[in-house]
Amino acid sequence: MSAPIVLILAAGLGTRMKSAKAKVLHEVAGRPLIAWAVETAKAAGADTIVAILGHQLEDVKDVLDDRYGEGTILIAHQKEQRGTGHAVMSALPALEGQPDSRTVVVLTGDAPLLRAERVSDLANACQASESKLALLSTIPPEAVAYGRLLRDDSGKLLRIVEDADANDEQKTIREMNAGFYAMNLGVLRKMVENLTSDNAQGELYLTDLAEQAAERGGAAVMEAPFDEIAGINDRRDLARVSASARARINDAWMQQGVTFEDSASTYVGADVREIGRDTILGPGVHLRGKTSIGEGVFVDAGCVITDVSIDNGSWIKPYSVIIDSKVGKKVQVGPFTHCRPNTVLDEECKVGNFVEIKKTHVMAGAKASHLSYLGDASIGAKANIGAGTITCNYDGFRKHKTTIEAGAFIGSDSQLVAPVTIGRDAFVGSGTTVTKDVPRSSLALSRTKQVNVEGWADRFRAASKKRQR
Ligand code: UD1
Ligand code: CA
Repeated sequence: MSAPIVLILAAGLGTRMKSAKAKVLHEVAGRPLIAWAVETAKAAGADTIVAILGHQLEDVKDVLDDRYGEGTILIAHQKEQRGTGHAVMSALPALEGQPDSRTVVVLTGDAPLLRAERVSDLANACQASESKLALLSTIPPEAVAYGRLLRDDSGKLLRIVEDADANDEQKTIREMNAGFYAMNLGVLRKMVENLTSDNAQGELYLTDLAEQAAERGGAAVMEAPFDEIAGINDRRDLARVSASARARINDAWMQQGVTFEDSASTYVGADVREIGRDTILGPGVHLRGKTSIGEGVFVDAGCVITDVSIDNGSWIKPYSVIIDSKVGKKVQVGPFTHCRPNTVLDEECKVGNFVEIKKTHVMAGAKASHLSYLGDASIGAKANIGAGTITCNYDGFRKHKTTIEAGAFIGSDSQLVAPVTIGRDAFVGSGTTVTKDVPRSSLALSRTKQVNVEGWADRFRAASKKRQR
């Protein structure tokens, strides 16, 4: 099969979403609806993809440029939303120069679960058919306000009647138009000329092409399960389709050898790149963005992980939050660790409960096991960061860097006032406020000497009691 051209219908407002945001920018499994359609088109081998936009064109275009590179997805501007047929007409200028012989597939931008194989099948059916038009039908489990397929006694498709135009008898027809089409570009160019807005909604219906195709042998119809073609019109649809997407995504990872302790409560984004075999995802785990996880990793309950790569054999303990960071092999994180952007944890290091890390490189085998803030820092191999260590990286105006060299030992409850360097193998005594660089292998101490006053406590109590009387 030759590569199809794909048009994505996405100019509508989506009134029923009751949203300030264009419908196609709402997300299913962390991916905007418009990007689901683009991914489907790409997976089906499309070489030209045109998004037909109207409402919030700039916002939608930004999302597309951001994801796919400026200009990769062609944009057609449908200035007024005068119907699906009109939408396709507004895409034709973008296809100028394309030969009539090409196959065009039309996808709706609000139905994310269509499988790429279905697009290829539809394009093949179009090429094989006499009328050079193929479309998907569906039989929904319950009544929906979709277009009905009207067939003659021989089964040939005569036309599609929209819900708004259907009479009572036509409304009993259960075979519906799914809203996906494939057609020959030359035929499309001719047919759209004949569309009229002579209908209940006063729109140019793309569905009227079926009637024109009937004169040339009839459109090819392929059935698809309702689950796969279901469009999103309101927030209830969004929730329902999101649940289906989640089940589909989790299922696919299970088939790749990933264990889900409780699939129903685990959210893996559609753009997650990799999860290696024998990795275990605990209940309530969220993997978001372009996260990629190696083999034999355990992400325990309640972790939220966004745009992170985690290497083999690491253990992310419960309720840790990691964003835009890199975790090496056999690292232990958490419970309750917060790694903010640009955290790099090298092999076998360990960061524990209530440790917050930002823009910091923790090198192999280093440890920060409890209650620390490490920001704008570099922590050398096998360094040990005691409980309550704070890098004071911000002076109210600028951020400064803390360098802790390999093998250094930072005693508990220390403040490292940046910019500052703790030399290799140096010690910082507990409770020290470090304001000057510490040379290698030396000890830094800034606390005052301890004084013990013998018998003081007893004398204090006696005097206090006397005063009470
Ligand atoms: C459409 C079909 C209907 C089918 C249903 C399946 C028509 C006339 N009807 O109805 O037969 O059963 O899909 O979901 O095609 N759009 C534009 N510009 C416009 C109008 C719509 O880009 O001027 C886009 C919308 O943003 C949306 C898609 O086209 O992504 C479908 O439009 P919508 O108004 O939702 O059509 P339906 O009434 O659902
Ligand atoms: Ca719709």
